[in-house]
Amino acid sequence: MTQPRILVLHGPNLNLLGQREPQIYGATTLDDIRNTLDALAAQLGVELAHFQSNHEGALIDRLHAARLDGTRYILINPAGYTHTSVALRDAIAATDLPFIEIHLSNIYRREAFRHRSFFSDLAVAVISGCGAHGYSLALRHAVAELGMGAN
Ligand code: DQA
Repeated sequence: MTQPRILVLHGPNLNLLGQREPQIYGATTLDDIRNTLDALAAQLGVELAHFQSNHEGALIDRLHAARLDGTRYILINPAGYTHTSVALRDAIAATDLPFIEIHLSNIYRREAFRHRSFFSDLAVAVISGCGAHGYSLALRHAVAELGMGAN
């Protein structure tokens, strides 16, 4: 039996994690997050696909692909596009897949323009302010929602 596939999508500038504003985003790199999630996914019996892009269209194209490639759930940190992108919102809505919105920082403790998200009202859940740990929390919840036993 093939394992359920979960797409982990990262928006712009997250390739710079660990170097970028570490006082806000921490010292963890995107590779660290990926490795931690892969280890957890192996324990939980799911397969992850990871994708990061600094380009809105590339993120949209990846979401379109997710409609057809067996993806069952999405974990997304839309980064700056959280607050600006109707097009990315429309693309995730078009997948008709459940998703969890993740932010490393607590966007509600930051500038007012970060308080609005184009994703939260569609999301199963929003995890904001738990740092890199938020991704592991989200993965555990996704697996629980997929009805896959121990988490
Ligand atoms: C972020 C928060 C956004 O406001 C910001 O533009 C990011 C990262 C976070 O993970 O805390 O790039 O999504």
